Amino acid sequence: MGYDRDLSFQYYNPTKIVFGENSVNDVGMEVEALGGSKALVVTDKSIKELGLAERVEKALGKRYAGTYDGCIVDSGVHTVNEGAAYARELGADAVVSVGGGSVIDTAKGIAILIREGGQLLDYCGLQMLRRPVAPHVAIPTTSGTGSEVTYAAVIKDWDRNVKLLFGDYFIIPNTAILDPTMTQGMPPGLTATTGMDAFTHAVEAIHALQREPISDGMALHAIRLLVEYLPRCVENGSDLVARGQVMIAATMAGVAFSNAQIGLVHAMAHSVGALFKVPHGLANSILLPHVMLYNMDECPDRYALVAQAMGLNTQGMSDLEASEAAINAIWELTKKMNVPQRLREAGVPEDGLLEAANLSLSDGCIVYNPKPVFDAEEVLEVYKKAW
Ligand SMILES: [Fe+2]
Repeated sequence: MGYDRDLSFQYYNPTKIVFGENSVNDVGMEVEALGGSKALVVTDKSIKELGLAERVEKALGKRYAGTYDGCIVDSGVHTVNEGAAYARELGADAVVSVGGGSVIDTAKGIAILIREGGQLLDYCGLQMLRRPVAPHVAIPTTSGTGSEVTYAAVIKDWDRNVKLLFGDYFIIPNTAILDPTMTQGMPPGLTATTGMDAFTHAVEAIHALQREPISDGMALHAIRLLVEYLPRCVENGSDLVARGQVMIAATMAGVAFSNAQIGLVHAMAHSVGALFKVPHGLANSILLPHVMLYNMDECPDRYALVAQAMGLNTQGMSDLEASEAAINAIWELTKKMNVPQRLREAGVPEDGLLEAANLSLSDGCIVYNPKPVFDAEEVLEVYKKAW
């Protein structure tokens, strides 16, 4: 399994998970359990249009303060400040986020400002907080980012056009309500790519340098669930059993990578996302098998575990052969779900690959990749194969 006596690690995840069909109805009770008396619902306009925010507002009952629906695709510093000002106006002492990763990240920022006041930029960086933030219940409406259980928030400073990282144990949401009925409206394409983001979190947690056995358990079971249930969700969005299992998988993969970290796939996906607006899950889905091929000689035992979790019969295979089988099975999986397999199909120009390779080298995720990467030429080669 790749561990020796020099293994040492810390594992931390404090989020209470509440799972079940219509478990969103428990939101009032959960806010109360955290000591919140009035909660601000944080969401975006599309979630509001789907009627999902309204379900939460009603379920909050007398603990409902109001709704901030100004979240945007890349959460912004100004969005967080605006939401926090509204929370103050309403006298809200807790937040309930209803949405995808950007909404949950925005709510993490608002929860900081409700408790601390001031400007969000005062708290940018790692472990900048000294005490818990305002209570936060996260209700995801996609299954992928894992933001409902992670300690990070990526918030964009639109004035300077840079993405800022906020990383703090205190911003991990207190409670995550996983209600499969909240994701059933997701279209097949988005279901597949957000699910592949979760799949990538799981595989990267398995190969990352900070890997450890507890996260391995989370990640490998997430892989098992995704292989079985993600295609079912793509085929039939109303299959609530499959929706539920994929939600659980995304959350488990979130816990896994939050502890073990990620690697080159995310570094490269962030770069083509920033430069060419390739959606995060799609970029990961395309790049994952190519990065595994690149890493394969460094950690074939780890990818053999992935192959087994994918349900492949690896008996009699060497670790390298099992790794190859895993990579081929990932291509089969994305093909089955009609996810594009090449960067050229995702709007990336060939002459932009070098810039993306250079940008990847400065991404924080790259340092946890199992094979050390120092050379933009090497990253460029991987991009070219994925193009
Ligand atoms: Fe991701």
